[in-house]
Amino acid sequence: MTTRFLIPAAGMGTRLGLDSPKALVALAGRPMLLRTLDRFAEAGLEQGVVIHPAGYEADFRDALAGRAVTLVPGGARRQDSVRCGLEALDDAAEVVAIHDAARPFVSVAAIRASVEAAETFGAATVAIPSVDTILEGDADGFLVATPERHRLWACQTPQTFRAEVVTEAHRRAAAEGFEGTDDASLVRHFGGRVKLVTGSRDNVKITLPEDLRLAELVLREGRA
Ligand code: CTP
Ligand code: MG
Repeated sequence: MTTRFLIPAAGMGTRLGLDSPKALVALAGRPMLLRTLDRFAEAGLEQGVVIHPAGYEADFRDALAGRAVTLVPGGARRQDSVRCGLEALDDAAEVVAIHDAARPFVSVAAIRASVEAAETFGAATVAIPSVDTILEGDADGFLVATPERHRLWACQTPQTFRAEVVTEAHRRAAAEGFEGTDDASLVRHFGGRVKLVTGSRDNVKITLPEDLRLAELVLREGRA
């Protein structure tokens, strides 16, 4: 099936202490966004949409020189940005792999597994079984419940969907004012079935300053 990537890259890296596009931050000399796109190219995916923060189109165009990607401005929340990206997909797209620019260490195997599961089941997300016991707390900071660990997964991307599945979920979420943290949750909220695909711990999201230091170390040691 014809597969396109959709890369939300419109965040401003607040938790990294930035007020500029996090996706353009260099890790060992190469912008995170390009490292992410390199992995997709290795997986055979060269075409798709990159969503940038409004006002930064020229910076992204420079960084992406020569690549066959469509650039569109995003919105205030990740969900808004993904919706902008979905609207910019070309008509040939049958399957859409949505992946955070901030996860530059994604493996080719994880991309392929996510795409294959979406082709089979209509919707899939990469995730890893939780190694921690996760506690649910209330607003006052008291324990409410301890869900069984073997049922808990930590969410990652890519989240991959048949195009009509994710487009319809976003359309309904916008119409009904439903907010979800990720695209698979939207699909699930509206009754869809989402396959969990086991990823690996390397696929970290660069979020905090310590993640940046860790990423530099991993790259310098040639482990990614
Ligand atoms: N993202 C986006 N549009 C937004 C917010 C986030 O496209 N309005 C993207 C980010 O660029 C990133 C991914 O969604 O690739 C995950 O977001 P996150 O790690 O939270 O990145 P930032 O929003 O940049 O970071 P912070 O929340 O610390 O500001
Ligand atoms: Mg954010």
